[in-house]
Amino acid sequence: MEKNIAVIRGDGIGPEIVEEALKVLNKIAAIYGHTFNYTDVDMGGCAIDKWGDPLPEEMLKRCLASDSVLLGAVGGNKWNDVPGDMRPEKGLLRLRAGMGVYSNNRPAKIWPQLASASPLKESVVEKGIDFIIVRELIGGIYFGEHETHEEKGVLVANDILSYNEEEIERIGRIGFETARKRNKKLCSVEKSNVLDSSRLWKKVMHRLAEEYPDVELSDMLVDNCAMQIVKDPSQFDTVVTENMFGDILSDEASMITGSIGMIPSSSLGKTTCGLYEPIHGSAPDIAGMDIANPIGTILSAAMMLRFSFDMGKEASAIETAVSRVLDKNYRTADIMPSLEEEAKNCIKVGCKKMGDLICEELN
Ligand code: IPM
Ligand code: MG
Repeated sequence: MEKNIAVIRGDGIGPEIVEEALKVLNKIAAIYGHTFNYTDVDMGGCAIDKWGDPLPEEMLKRCLASDSVLLGAVGGNKWNDVPGDMRPEKGLLRLRAGMGVYSNNRPAKIWPQLASASPLKESVVEKGIDFIIVRELIGGIYFGEHETHEEKGVLVANDILSYNEEEIERIGRIGFETARKRNKKLCSVEKSNVLDSSRLWKKVMHRLAEEYPDVELSDMLVDNCAMQIVKDPSQFDTVVTENMFGDILSDEASMITGSIGMIPSSSLGKTTCGLYEPIHGSAPDIAGMDIANPIGTILSAAMMLRFSFDMGKEASAIETAVSRVLDKNYRTADIMPSLEEEAKNCIKVGCKKMGDLICEELN
């Protein structure tokens, strides 16, 4: 098969981790006889520096013309003082909206090899951690009006959180369908004891539940969910939630699996052209040091193969290769065990070396 991939290296550690993911994709292409063509796209801080805009129109066009988009990470302190509308993150939000990718899928799964890197007690981890957060990605407070004004010499800021029934229904369906392919348990997370948007969310989820009688729907308030994720993550199978709650909970969920550096994500809308990115940020403090963990990006590339290119076998090959490298005790700094005793058995490697090891396992 021949596929055109738009590649956004971005800022901070973005370029390094994307480089390793491309290495892995090229290896897959060679082994399975595919051709992957890459088109570079500037987005985020680097696009601000080069074009004065975090996502120039031409760059969005390149993404829309591709079969899918692979992204490293964007942002950094350098652009902290630019106006909100011109921040690197705004480029990412505009890209997600421009691509119409409303459904963001973030797995929280513990790799058995990394169980000791989890900050949770062994007795909790032992019960298993394997759930998916389905996050609404192009609505809610991230996309409502943002404004700051002055009232009688006092600054006032507003951010609007709004959802309509249709937006809730389309992400709700993804939640139910995701649960249906897993253990058929869907937990809808909201704040319906306070927010109108959450009360509408809950109402729509229950209306949809009638169409999915094989899926068990439960409701949970977001504050309780934050607590339950650390108390007993084994209770979750599929979680569906709005944009900001999903952003926060997915960081929490990734941390209990050992490291945010391991977690990939897919974002899809109506078409198979998806956006694939690790869920971590650009980590400017370690950029260029060859110590970042490229696995989140490599697994994002695997998700792209599976969900957008229908290359399930190739995706599994990458996941198995990652697992084998972990079996052999290779670790990047972020996933080194904290106990000295255990760390002694591990081999600390950099970003490039981790990419090479995964490629070698693909043979
Ligand atoms: C994420 C990030 C982004 C988000 C930022 C960079 C805008 O935190 O993908 O989780 O909040 O969606
Ligand atoms: Mg986030």
